[in-house]
Amino acid sequence: MGHRGILWLAWSEDAGTLNQMTTTGAKPVGAVDEAGAARAVQQMFDSIAPRYDLLNHVLSASVDRLWWWQTARRFRKVLADPDAAVLDVCCGTGHMTRALLKGRPHGARPILAADFAREMLRRGARRFDARKAGEPSAVALEADALHLPLRSASLDLIVTAFGFRNLANYEAGLKEFARVLKPGGQLGILDFSEPGGLVGKAYAVYFRRVLPAIGRLICGKDGPYNYLPASVAKFPPPAEMLDLMRASGYTDCTWQPYTFGIAGLYTGVRGDAG
Ligand SMILES: C[S@@+](CC[C@H](N)C(=O)[O-])C[C@H]1O[C@@H](n2cnc3c(N)ncnc32)[C@H](O)[C@@H]1O
Repeated sequence: MGHRGILWLAWSEDAGTLNQMTTTGAKPVGAVDEAGAARAVQQMFDSIAPRYDLLNHVLSASVDRLWWWQTARRFRKVLADPDAAVLDVCCGTGHMTRALLKGRPHGARPILAADFAREMLRRGARRFDARKAGEPSAVALEADALHLPLRSASLDLIVTAFGFRNLANYEAGLKEFARVLKPGGQLGILDFSEPGGLVGKAYAVYFRRVLPAIGRLICGKDGPYNYLPASVAKFPPPAEMLDLMRASGYTDCTWQPYTFGIAGLYTGVRGDAG
């Protein structure tokens, strides 16, 4: 039981080739239910974990660093409060968490960094453990975003980067986040989007053809980097996502496009009704 720096709370895994079937959430081909879909997503990330950081930086030409930083900056006020309870969910290898930590003052409450893919989280935990004594810190938590082992109305901020799109049920994810956020607590969802116009056309060629080929080369397998463009194509477009957020208990919902709309940040505030 246990690896240094990680709270082990959940999950085992199973296999599956990934695809998405509806806009309700990510689904593996052949999955009969949401639990099976989630296990396939979990297993995919466990299998690519050793190459994940390299692939990410190569495939995004390191623009992902800018997106994490812009997201953290958007929440700088709440991050500056040392008592704020902050969760980075679907934290993976911890890059978003690290950007959030830059906004935390010394002596601040540690950030909770949760993921259900143990191999991804283990790498994130190593990053957090390597921080110097006294620096703002993070605690790794092995947990499913749809069933967070956290008290209701206990968090001031939830951020998730490139993870939300992979949830087996988007509405259930938004509702679970609303459950654990305090009334007035903030949510930030950073994820890919499909830009329109000429940029969109050029990007589509890269995203659907070049990216899977490079991914296959570095990673040695087909599935994950075919899944990425397919999952983005099936992800609700901004207007639909904003409607879903409002219907799930959030107010002041916004979408801020990043880099011609290749990615973007959704924000919302947990309303009083939850
Ligand atoms: C593309 S990675 C993003 C990692 C990190 N946030 C980043 O920006 O690099 C997506 C992560 O979401 C996690 N994930 C997907 N569904 C999840 C769920 N239901 N519960 C917890 N983590 C989940 C995966 O395990 C994976 O580590």
